[in-house]
Amino acid sequence: GSAQKEIHMSSETERRVENLLDSSTGSENIDSYSGTSVQTAKQSPQELNKTNGVPVLENDSAKKALSVELKEIQEKQKESDRVKEMCLFREKLPAYKMKSEFLKAVAAHQVLVVSGETGCGKTTQLPQFIIEEEISSLRGSDCNIICTQPRRISAISVAARISNERGENLGETVGYQIRLESKRSEQTRLLFCTTGVLLRKLVQDPSLTGVSHLLVDEIHERGMNEDFLLIILRDLLPKRPDLRLILMSATINADLFSKYFGNAPTIHIPGLTFPVQELFLEDVLEKTRYEVKSEADNFQGYSKRRRQQQESKSDPVTEQFEDADICSVYKSYSASTRQSLEAWSGSETDLGLVEATIEHICRHEAPGAILVFLTGWDEISKLLESVKTNSFLGDPTKFLVLPLHGSMPTINQREIFDRPPIGMRKVVLATNIAESSITIDDVVYVIDCGKAKETSYDALNKLACLLPSWISKASAHQRRGRAGRVQPGVCYRLYPKMVHDAMLQFQLPEILRTPLQELCLQIKSLQLGAIASFLAKALQPPDALSVQNAVELLKTIGALDEAEELTPLGRHLCTLPVEPNIGKMLLMGSIFQCVNPILTIAAALASRSPFVLPINRKQEADEAKRSFAGDSCSDHIALLKAFEGWKDAKRSGNERSFCWENFLSGQTMKMIGDMRLQFLDLLSDIGFVDKSKGANVYNQYSDDMEMVCAVLCAGLYPNVVQCKRRGKRTALYTKEVGKVDIHPASVNAGVHLFPLPYMVYSEKVKTSNVYIRDSTNISDYALLMFGGKLVPSKNGDGIEMLDGYLQFSASKSVMGLIQKLRGEVDRLLKRK
Ligand code: CDP
Ligand code: MG
Repeated sequence: GSAQKEIHMSSETERRVENLLDSSTGSENIDSYSGTSVQTAKQSPQELNKTNGVPVLENDSAKKALSVELKEIQEKQKESDRVKEMCLFREKLPAYKMKSEFLKAVAAHQVLVVSGETGCGKTTQLPQFIIEEEISSLRGSDCNIICTQPRRISAISVAARISNERGENLGETVGYQIRLESKRSEQTRLLFCTTGVLLRKLVQDPSLTGVSHLLVDEIHERGMNEDFLLIILRDLLPKRPDLRLILMSATINADLFSKYFGNAPTIHIPGLTFPVQELFLEDVLEKTRYEVKSEADNFQGYSKRRRQQQESKSDPVTEQFEDADICSVYKSYSASTRQSLEAWSGSETDLGLVEATIEHICRHEAPGAILVFLTGWDEISKLLESVKTNSFLGDPTKFLVLPLHGSMPTINQREIFDRPPIGMRKVVLATNIAESSITIDDVVYVIDCGKAKETSYDALNKLACLLPSWISKASAHQRRGRAGRVQPGVCYRLYPKMVHDAMLQFQLPEILRTPLQELCLQIKSLQLGAIASFLAKALQPPDALSVQNAVELLKTIGALDEAEELTPLGRHLCTLPVEPNIGKMLLMGSIFQCVNPILTIAAALASRSPFVLPINRKQEADEAKRSFAGDSCSDHIALLKAFEGWKDAKRSGNERSFCWENFLSGQTMKMIGDMRLQFLDLLSDIGFVDKSKGANVYNQYSDDMEMVCAVLCAGLYPNVVQCKRRGKRTALYTKEVGKVDIHPASVNAGVHLFPLPYMVYSEKVKTSNVYIRDSTNISDYALLMFGGKLVPSKNGDGIEMLDGYLQFSASKSVMGLIQKLRGEVDRLLKRK
């Protein structure tokens, strides 16, 4: 991707120079990339020649030579102007004033905690200070800095930014490495990588040989990988006395980390921010005159009651919020206000209100970019669509509306950071990625929906939920701060003040609200000892039941043996940078020679669904998806067929209309396409696919959907439900939560009877009911072959699965055959 981008850039520069030479009038040319103006065109070619002493020549080849030379000079001039400009910019950042204090502290202490408001220059400046110091002290060649980022997009954008500040190309002194992609060279002294990449580096080299400085960024987010890394580093530091560790955090909970590292010193970088006015829903509604759906009356009723309560000085909300989440606070608030309160705790953002607020700002407020915080990609794309058709905001000459999302491809990024052309207003629709890891300088207005999509893990029901939930006070504060970077700003909070008062102080760390199986695998592959005792050393250790569930799951899928040690399968899974289930699917797909379809399905499961859900044409969209599924009763097959259709359409040049007609996201398809090639490389690296023998060899069963479904079962087990016939309908049961429903967006929703007795699924979610998402109907044979452990059944006439799902009476020879096949798979896994 990025190489292509570079080629594109240079040909663009070339074209520009050619245009300059050809035009006699010329005008100031704005370089759209750096935003600086290039003053060259006002000079005629003759004048230019005078300046660099080349005689004027008329013929074509001379013109070309001239053009090349001219280009070089212009580029150099431009480059040095820009570097100068960048220097001035850097010196204005608050971090610059702390440079010597920071460097002294790094020299004197092994661990240092640095906190400071977002945008003060921690990520871009601190590592550069170290480089500059090391180079000036001639230790430069020994210096090898790694800085971790929780997200891919920030690793790339920060590395690009620093290279730019240094007037270098990305990949020279500063590079990046993210899952499946890197840009670095021999010269690279500062590497930005995701925390996940660093954890995998630790597998190869547990003592991080050669790394002189390690910076762990955004630790205040309390991501699982970061918390995990800190446990490892705390144990590593005494063994690597020369390694320097610098922890960087946005908010000021630095004490927690300092204590964890034996009272390490802390430095705080004071921020340079302007005051931000804060408006709550009460004020926003008054300003926008927006009617909050049908609950407007309730809201007014609620405000009135709220006022009365405040007058009487009793505040049940803040009294209760200590030990309950916001939803339960709402529900117990008072029976009469229940209706209105639920309206506020509902999971969807009122996009109409968001749009009305954007419009209000655009119509009545002074210029300045608007940053909108939404919960996820679906809300961002819905709002994008809706703004496009808005009679006022839809004017592309006045408004530049841009999405910003963690899994977005990196193109169009400059647009997000650059000032828009004069007379235009920039509106960025973002997820909480814009909260602290990405700073957009010119934001003056923030619109905050108050929510973020957050996983939570219900250990009792073994259920992971990804639901929009209220953010913490710390996040709300961060979001507000985004409006005061360059001038005083305004923050429009689309929730009542009372909700804000009831928010938790800090968000629960991720390690306490996610399933732990990937983490457990990593603990084993890093040889960190027994899982439970290792995790007990965390900043805030997860509870025993969650740990036990994860270990059990890994045993069930065959990644850990009874003694909790890695099996051959487990070892392969550690090398694949995907969830254990998806990894197992890929391995089984190669063993059973149906690699192509499994690559596609695995890539889609590891990124996101390419099916888009338009608001108004939901039914048509559902039909399109169903037609891809055919009679397979499988969302996974629908995905596969949609991808194959897209590839054909792309080949014949009508990708756009294909996507439009079938409600597919071309961008997501492209991402899936890239990812599946990377998965193929990984499989070939670990010897599961032999590319030299040709694709036919590993695709012998790629058209056999029965085989594909069986491999899906192998990967997705134990995500199984049993289809039980109840008269003319089918009821679905799982062992953990009993009856479940099929997600309405599934091709299996509304199917009354299924041809086969089981269903595997990729995800179980809890909203109002428990739903299974993306399901595939499978046979009992698939389960018998690829499901859990088999034991002789109690009555002696067959076998049953340890999980109790399946009883199977079969002759001795059939049972022998199954055991033999299973043994063969184990043997293949061991051999590679
Ligand atoms: O890490 P921290 O939040 O303290 O700030 P930073 O990421 O180092 O960014 C410092 C400043 O650099 C920001 O305020 C932006 O003005 C600028 N920046 C930019 O223009 N483009 C980027 N891709 C990154 C940073
Ligand atoms: Mg930062």
